[in-house]
Amino acid sequence: MDFHDAIKVAENIYWVGYADEKTHLHCNPYLLLDGNKENIEAVLIDPGSLTDFPKMMRKVLEVVNPANISLIVAQHQDPDVCSNIPVVEDIIGRKDLRVAAHSNSIRLIRHYGIQSSFYPVEQHDYTITLNSGRVLEFMFTPYLHSPGAIVTYDTQTKSLFTSDIFGAVSECWNLLATDESFLARMDSWHQLYMPSNRVLRHGLERMQSHWQIDRILPQHGSVIEGKMVGKAFEHLKGLACGIDLDGEMA
Ligand SMILES: [Fe+2]
Ligand SMILES: [Fe+2]
Repeated sequence: MDFHDAIKVAENIYWVGYADEKTHLHCNPYLLLDGNKENIEAVLIDPGSLTDFPKMMRKVLEVVNPANISLIVAQHQDPDVCSNIPVVEDIIGRKDLRVAAHSNSIRLIRHYGIQSSFYPVEQHDYTITLNSGRVLEFMFTPYLHSPGAIVTYDTQTKSLFTSDIFGAVSECWNLLATDESFLARMDSWHQLYMPSNRVLRHGLERMQSHWQIDRILPQHGSVIEGKMVGKAFEHLKGLACGIDLDGEMA
C-alpha cells in the first residue's frame, strides 16, 4: 500500500496520516466529507502534530479544498493529536470554523494558540449536526488516557473514531488490521498509557452498549473493521494495564 497519498478507509472518510518509520508511532488524522459536490462540508478529526503538518495538509488538499472544513474535532489535548490546529486554521481561513472538544481538554488546548471558537461537546448533549442533517455523536471517556478524552461516532457509516483507545505502537504496521496479529500490537500501548483495566473496561462497555460499531478508526495503529471489531473490544477488556501492573512496565 502506498502511504504517500490520502487513503479512503470508509465511504467519504479518508486517512490523511503519516507512517513514521522512525518512532513506530503512526499518527492517523481523518477527514470526513459530507454533503454533495456543490456543497461539501468536511470535518477534520485529530489533525495531528506540528511536525507532521505538511504531510497531513498535502493529503487533505488531494481530497478537498480546506475552505470546506467547517469543524475540527480534537479528541484530547495531546500534541500528536492537535498541536497543529493554529496552522491548520490559518490554511482553512474561515471565521466560522469550530473546534469540538470536551471542556477538560479545551482548558489545555487553548494554550496552543487556537483562534477559532470552541464547541464544548458536553454543552451540546454530546452531538453535532452537520448541514446535511448527518449527526456525529460524542462520548466522554475520561482517563482513557486523558481527563478530557472523547470518542466520536459517525451515525452514517457506523464508524467510531477512538483517538488513543485501540492505538498501537509497533515496528510492524499496516493501515488495516487484516488478521488477529494486530491484537497483541495494541498491548504495550494500552499497558503504558491507559490507567487501569477497570477504567478501560468501563469505557469500552459504554461504547458497545451505545452504538453498533462497524469500524474503529484509532489515532495510532490500524483501522479495525468487521469481525475484528468485536475481537478488539474483547481483547482490551481483558488486558491489565497502567496501575494494574504496579510498575512492571516501567
Ligand atoms: Fe494521547
Ligand atoms: Fe495519541
